[in-house]
Amino acid sequence: MSRGDGDVVYDVAPLSDLPDPGLLGVSLPSGERVCLIRRGGRVTALRDECTHQGMPLSAGELHDDGTVECPWHGARFDGATGEPRRGPAEVPVATFDVRVEGDRVLVVPPSGSRIR
Ligand code: FES
Repeated sequence: MSRGDGDVVYDVAPLSDLPDPGLLGVSLPSGERVCLIRRGGRVTALRDECTHQGMPLSAGELHDDGTVECPWHGARFDGATGEPRRGPAEVPVATFDVRVEGDRVLVVPPSGSRIR
């Protein structure tokens, strides 16, 4: 989906499908999995793949401090920046820009990413 402003964005879900607070796993047309994170009305997105051993973060838990806990070995990532906040993961998880337009959640892949 092109917006005509140079960006490619993907309409991935209705906002009403995303609990607040909560997580939702979605797929881009490339097959890339994205973990949407909604907290306090704000929506962010991480690649839905723990950098420890690849577990989907959307199957994990969103904590009050804004971290997302991997369901496998308990690593936690900042839900906005993707930075690891607790091991065993040591590498940040990739982030995506998100736009909310009405009831639609739009994901913007990073420039030069393998998604495009
Ligand atoms: S796969 Fe996520 S902590 Fe191990």
